[in-house]
Parts: sequence; C-alpha cells; structure tokens
Amino acid sequence: MTNQTKDQIKDQAKNQAKNQAIDQVAGKIRELKTAKNAIILSHNYQPADIQDIADLCGDSLELSIEAAKTSADVIVFCGVHFMAETASILSPDKKVLLPKQDAGCPMADMITPEALEKKKKELKGVPVVTYVNSPASVKALTDICCTSANAVRVVNSLDAKEVLMAPDKNLAQYTAAHTDKKIHLWEGCCPIHDRLTVEEVIAAKKTHPEALFMAHPECSPEILALADEILSTSGMIKFAGKSKLSEFIIGTETGILHPMRNKHPDKRFYPVSTGMECADMKKIGLEDIAFALENMSGEIKVPESIRIPALAAVQKMIEL
Ligand code: 13P
Ligand code: SF4
Repeated sequence: MTNQTKDQIKDQAKNQAKNQAIDQVAGKIRELKTAKNAIILSHNYQPADIQDIADLCGDSLELSIEAAKTSADVIVFCGVHFMAETASILSPDKKVLLPKQDAGCPMADMITPEALEKKKKELKGVPVVTYVNSPASVKALTDICCTSANAVRVVNSLDAKEVLMAPDKNLAQYTAAHTDKKIHLWEGCCPIHDRLTVEEVIAAKKTHPEALFMAHPECSPEILALADEILSTSGMIKFAGKSKLSEFIIGTETGILHPMRNKHPDKRFYPVSTGMECADMKKIGLEDIAFALENMSGEIKVPESIRIPALAAVQKMIEL
C-alpha cells in the first residue's frame, strides 16, 4: 500500500466521521424543531450546512416577509443581529433566536440613533430611508426601510424631492442613479462589498470572458459601472435561472454560490474574488442551532418603545 493510498483512506475515514456527526446534529435539530414548533430562516450568505437545514433561505426582503407571516412559535434566525431584530419587530409574540449573539454587521454599526438625530436636524424634515442593515433603534427614527431588492421602488414611492438614505453610501449612490430625487448619503458601507477592486473584476472577466458579471448594490459605483446586472442576492439566483447564458461571475459574499449551484446545476458560477467572505455571516454552526433550540437561548427582543416606531418603517416597506 502506498503512502498516498494510506492518506486517502485516512481522509475518507475522517470525512465519514464528519458526515456522521453532521447527520447526528441535523437529526437533533429536526426533532427539536418539531417539538418547539420552530422555523429556521437562513440568509443566502450562511454556510452551506446551515442553508441545507433551513426551512427557508432568502435575501433580506424574503426573510422579513416570511418572519411576518409564519405560524411557528419560534424563529431561529441564521444570519446577523439586525435580521433577527427585524424578525422580532415583525413578530413580537414569537421567540426569535439568534444562535450566535455576536454575529453582527459592521455596516449596521456605522450608524447610531444619536448621529441620525443630528443629521435629521441638519436636513430639516427630509424623509429618511433606512437600509434594513441597521439597528432597530435607527429604524425607529426613520420613515421607511428598504432592502437591496427594493431600494429604488421605496425611494420613488416617497412624496418628497429629497431623501436621506442610510447607512450604505453605495446603495444610496446606486439609487441616486435611478431616481430623479436628490439623495443625501450616509458615510457607511459594507466592508466586504466595498473592498472589491476594479482590478479584481477586470481579472475575473479576463479569466471568464463568456461570463456575465452580476454585482450587489453594496459594491462601490466603480464596480457597479462594470456590472452587467445589479441585483440583490435572491435577485441574482433568479436571474441566473432565467438567463440563456451559462456562466456568471458573482460580485457578492461567497455564501451565495451554494444556493446558486444547487438551484442551477447546469450553469457555472465564479466568485469575482476570494476576499468576499463576511466573517459575521459564518459564525453560526449546526451545534449552535441545536443548542439554541434545546435551551431557548440567544433570544433577540426589541423593546416596545423602539419596536412600535420601527415596525411602522418596516411594515411600510413590506406593504409597498
Ligand atoms: P440581500 O440578501 O438583501 O441582498 O442582503 C445583502 C446583505 O448584505 C445582507 O447582509
Ligand atoms: Fe453586514 Fe456586509 Fe456582512 Fe451583510 S455582508 S452582514 S452588510 S458586513
């Protein structure tokens, strides 16, 4: 027997043991889910095994809509803090669990209610559109929320000539290019999308000359200028399904490659760069879901004084 064969056997045994352990935890999660009447929601950026066990995977808008209408008693939110908060805003009678309490969003941390109050005073009555990637306390001070899937529609729905969009300056600039309204920016961004460079896009296009380049509106204007399509995460998955093309360069967090490849196995998807991984989106593991369900731990609850005004802003967006 060669050394290489021995190594291969060792690897096989390791993989087998790993898969058995995954199956065991997954089985436990399924049992607990039934016992607690729980639903598992997962964002498209979550690790593959989390997406596989979830009842629904989607973009921020789809997950908000599901959180508002589910009949489950418990929502296990596999995503980041602001997403679980949004679920709690929409479903105050349900227990919303975030299996890793420190899964945050650096962009959401780039705005505070105090700083927004100050800006609102400066802008004297200009309506405020908040990206859902923001704290509940910020949503509570705003007129309407938006996601990457509906930002232009939300802004155009307002009866005002000027709008403040916060906290993502890139989404705001993208929206500004698609509306007649004057958009005031907030100096925030998603570090993962914002760090993508023009050179990386050009290199990916050179490597895959037949591929169409899709980018998320959280990317900078220079990147969006190179994009063939600008879409939310679920928008990208749907577009790939409808397109006659079979190769796509994906300009967003790499977790999305899993549902894309699953839903469209006949097509090929290439990450635009290896650097687009959000550490916060990768914090939750299967064991964390099992632990949260077993112990009903990691609850996210938005206080009523914040929830009521925040709900008005989220609801307005959902009803649009
Ligand atoms: P969408 O799924 O709404 O496109 O969200 C992108 C995002 O950054 C979520 O953290
Ligand atoms: Fe926040 Fe960006 Fe991570 Fe989304 S990908 S959670 S916007 S840091």
